[in-house]
Amino acid sequence: MAKSKSFSCAACGNVTTKWSGRCEACGEWNTISEDAGISEGPKSSSLGQARGRAVTLTDLASEETPPPRTHSGMGELDRVLGGGLVPASAILVGGDPGIGKSTLLLQAAARFASSGLKTVYISGEEASAQVRMRAQRLGLQQADVKLGAETNLRDILTTLEQEKPQLAIIDSIQTMWADNVGSAPGSVSQVRAAAHELTSFAKRRGMSVILVGHVTKDGQIAGPRVVEHMVDTVLYFEGERGHQFRILRAVKNRFGPADEIGVFEMTGAGLSEVTNPSALFLSERGTPAPGSVVFSGIEGTRPVLVELQALVAPSPHAQARRTVVGWDGSRLAMILAVLEARCGIPFAGLDVYLNVAGGMKVSEPAADLAVAAALLSAREDSALPAETVVFGEISLSGALRPVGQSENRLKEAAKLGFTTAIVPQGGKMSGASGLSLNRMGDLTGFVGEVFGAG
Ligand code: TYD
Ligand code: MG
Repeated sequence: MAKSKSFSCAACGNVTTKWSGRCEACGEWNTISEDAGISEGPKSSSLGQARGRAVTLTDLASEETPPPRTHSGMGELDRVLGGGLVPASAILVGGDPGIGKSTLLLQAAARFASSGLKTVYISGEEASAQVRMRAQRLGLQQADVKLGAETNLRDILTTLEQEKPQLAIIDSIQTMWADNVGSAPGSVSQVRAAAHELTSFAKRRGMSVILVGHVTKDGQIAGPRVVEHMVDTVLYFEGERGHQFRILRAVKNRFGPADEIGVFEMTGAGLSEVTNPSALFLSERGTPAPGSVVFSGIEGTRPVLVELQALVAPSPHAQARRTVVGWDGSRLAMILAVLEARCGIPFAGLDVYLNVAGGMKVSEPAADLAVAAALLSAREDSALPAETVVFGEISLSGALRPVGQSENRLKEAAKLGFTTAIVPQGGKMSGASGLSLNRMGDLTGFVGEVFGAG
C-alpha cells in the first residue's frame, strides 16, 4: 500500500499533504520539506535502518514509588507544582511581559537553592549585572544561585553539562538560539528546537528545567503551543497591570492537579505570598451595592471567594452591548436567554457589563446563579442582603443544579464572616458550616424570593 506523504513548514509547523514553494498557513517561502517516515525502511528513513529494536514492555501493576519532591518553602508555588518540584521535570512558566515572571523565578531559584538544590539561572534578556541588581532589591544577594547571561543554546548546554545543576531556569525560551536551526531567534522553529534540546537534556541528566515563555497578545505562548506539549507542567502567571495581585495557575501538570492556583502580591520587595486569597479579593468591597454579588468558588483544591459586579443600563446603540471581564461571554449570553425565556425578564435594549473583581478569572458553571443574581440585582437596582454568598449551576430549563464541594464553599464563606448562602436544592450540605441556607429549586423561585416576583 502506498504511504501518503506528509510535508511540514519549518516556520509555523503547518502540516500538508503536498509540497509547495510557499506555506499556505504563514506565507513564508521555501520553508516546506517532506517529513521523513521511520517505519518504511532504509530509503526514506532518517534513522538509517529498516527495523527498530523491541521495547521492553511492563505491567501496569509494576512497583512505582511517587517521585521525591523538593519544597521551595514558598507554599503558593509548591502547591501549584503539585506539592514541590519533581526531579528531572520540565516546567513552562508563561505570562505577559512585565507581569513578574523573572521576579518570581529569581525568588524561586533562591528558595530552591536554600532547600539544597544546585541552581543555575540563565538570563537571555538581561545582563548578569541587571539580574544581580534585582536580586539585591529582593534581598537575595546571599543566595547560592549561579547566574549566566547567554542566548546561545550550544554554549548553555555545554555549561549545564559541566556544572551539573539540579535545577536550571531559562529566562526566556524566546531569546534562546540554536545555531543548527536556520530561522531567527523567537521564531517557532527556534523556540521548538530550544525547548526540545533543553527538555531532553533535562530528562537525560536528571535535571529539572523551568522555561520562561512570553505570551502573545491572543494569550498563547509564542511558538503556537509547541512548547506546552514538550513539558510536564505548564503554569501561567496572570494579573492585571493596575492590581498588585498575581495568580500562578497550573493549566497542565503531569505531577499534580491542573487548575490549581497560587496567589501572590507584587510589592516593592518582590512577590509575597497571599495565603488567604478570599480576604484579599473581597478587601476592596464596600457596603452592599446593586449589581455586586459574592460567589464562593473553587480554584484547584481550595475555595476562593470573589466578587462579581454587573452593570445594566439602557443602551444608546441599536445593538445592545454585552461586555464580560473574567468570565465566559457565551455563558453570559446563555444566562440572559434563560432569564428571558424562563422568568420573563428581558434584557433587550439594555447594555450588560459583567466583571470579576480583582482581576480574577472564573470558569466554573457553579458561578451561574451568582451571575444571574448580579444581573438581576443590577437590573432591579436592588442590593442582595448583606453577608450573603451565592453559588449554583443553571440549566437551560431554568432549574438549579447542585455543584461539587458545596461544603467547602460554605465553610470558606463562614470563615470570612458570611451568614447566609443562596444555593440550589439537593447536593451534600450538612449545615455544619453554620451558615443559614436559602435553598432554591429553580430560577423563577429565586427571582420571586430575592427580588419580589421579578
Ligand atoms: P519582571 O519580573 O521583570 O516581569 P517579566 O519577567 O514577566 O517580564 O517584573 C517586572 C515588573 O515588576 C516591573 O514593572 C517592576 C515590578 N517589580 C516590583 O514591583 N517589585 C519588585 O521588587 C520587582 C523586582 C519588580
Ligand atoms: Mg523577565
